[in-house]
Amino acid sequence: MVIDMKELRIGVVGTGFIGGRHIDAISRTTGARVVAVADPVLDKAKKTAEGIGANAYTTVDEMLEKEELDVIHNCTPTNMHYEVDVKAIEAEKHLYCEKPLALNAKEGDALLALLEKHPVANGVNLNYRMNALVQDMRSQVEEKAPGRSFLVTGSYVQDWMMNQDDYDWRLEPQNGGASRAIADIGSHLFDTCQYVLGKKITAVNAHLMIMHPTRQHYEKTGGTFDKGKGKLLGEIRVVNEDAASIMARFEDGTEGLFQVSQVSAGHKNDMRLRFDFENCSWEWRQEENNLLYIGHRDEPNQIKHREASALSPHAAAFTELPAGHPEGWNDVLYQTIRAFYDSIRTGSYREGKVPYATIAEGAWIMKIIEACLASDAGGRWVDV
Ligand SMILES: NC(=O)c1ccc[n+]([C@@H]2O[C@H](COP(=O)([O-])OP(=O)(O)OC[C@H]3O[C@@H](n4cnc5c(N)ncnc54)[C@H](O)[C@@H]3O)[C@@H](O)[C@H]2O)c1
Repeated sequence: MVIDMKELRIGVVGTGFIGGRHIDAISRTTGARVVAVADPVLDKAKKTAEGIGANAYTTVDEMLEKEELDVIHNCTPTNMHYEVDVKAIEAEKHLYCEKPLALNAKEGDALLALLEKHPVANGVNLNYRMNALVQDMRSQVEEKAPGRSFLVTGSYVQDWMMNQDDYDWRLEPQNGGASRAIADIGSHLFDTCQYVLGKKITAVNAHLMIMHPTRQHYEKTGGTFDKGKGKLLGEIRVVNEDAASIMARFEDGTEGLFQVSQVSAGHKNDMRLRFDFENCSWEWRQEENNLLYIGHRDEPNQIKHREASALSPHAAAFTELPAGHPEGWNDVLYQTIRAFYDSIRTGSYREGKVPYATIAEGAWIMKIIEACLASDAGGRWVDV
C-alpha cells in the first residue's frame, strides 16, 4: 500500500468551543498542520491563529482563495454546515464536518449527491464511536461473540440548558434546527449504537418535551459552554425540545430505548449505553470511558479496562496509553482525526470501510432526527 506522507495542510472553519478542540487534536497528529482558520469574529480568528502560527480569515471563501489546503474542518454552528461543506467539496478538499451533519435531511442528501461528483474523503464528528472500548464492542459483534442482540438502552443527559435563563444559538431553529436535544446529543447516541450493532435504526416512536416554553434571550458572544451571558435582548418562545424519550427499532429487529435531556441537574456530558445480547450484556459510560462492564448470567460479571492487550487488534489501534493511565474525551477526538487523516494518506477512504462516521452515515442520522419530529407530531411510530 502506498502511503502519502506529505504534510496535510488544514483549514479550520469556526473557532468556538469545538473548533479549539479540533485544533488541539490536530496538533497531536503527525504530518498535519493547521495553516488557516476562519471565523466571522475576526478577533477570535486572529487570537486562535496567532497561537499556532496560522493565518486568520473571516470567511471560508477567502481562506479557500488564499490558501493551498488539503483538508477543511467544519466547526461552524449547524446552520452553516451545509454551505461550508459544499464549498469545501466543490473545491475538492477533504472534509471533516461537525455533527449534526446539517439542518435537515434534505441538506444531508444534497451533500451525498455532491460527493458522487467530487469523491473527497469525508467524515462527520460523531466521535464517541471512536473510543477504543466502543471499537472493541464493534469487533466483538463482527465476530458474533455476544450472540443475538436483544435490547439497547441509552441515555445522554446534560444540564447546561437547565435554567430558564440559559441561552444558546441552538435554541434558534434557523441556526440549530427544528430539533435541539435529539439533533445535538441524540445524534451521538444513534450513531454509537448503530455502529456497535452494525445495524441501522429504521423506525422510531418519539416524545419531545419543552420544559421552558419561553427563555430569556441573551446576546452570548462566547462559545457554547462560556458562562458569560452578555446583554439581555428580550424573551423568545422555545420551539425545539429540551428533552425527549425515543423508542427505536433497528433493522435486525433489536428494540432500543433512548432518553436525551439538556436539563438534568448535575449531569454534564453523561452518555450511557447498555447492550443486552444472547450471551452477555455490556454497559459503557462516556464519562468513565476507560471501563466496560460485562454482565453474565451464570458466571461472575467482569470489568474490562481500556488497555491494548485486552482489546481486539483493530480496537487496540485506538488507544495509546498503558493500563492505569486514563484516556479522555480529547484523546478520543485525537484518535478520530488521526484515523481520518490515515484514511487520506492510505487512500482507504475510497474503499468505504472506515472506522469514523461518514457523510452517508451523518445523512442517515438526519433522517432519524426528522422521523423523531414526525413521530412526536403524529403520536405514532414513523419509518426512517
Ligand atoms: N462532536 C462533539 O462532541 C461536539 C461538541 C460540541 C459542538 N459540536 C458541534 O460543533 C458545531 C459548533 O458548535 P460549538 O459548540 O463549537 O459552537 P460555538 O458557538 O462555541 O462556536 C461556533 C463558532 O463558529 C463561528 N462561526 C459562525 N458562523 C461562521 C461562519 N459562517 N464561518 C466560520 N465560522 C463561523 C462562531 O463565530 C463561533 O466562533 C455545532 O454543529 C455543534 O453541534 C460537536
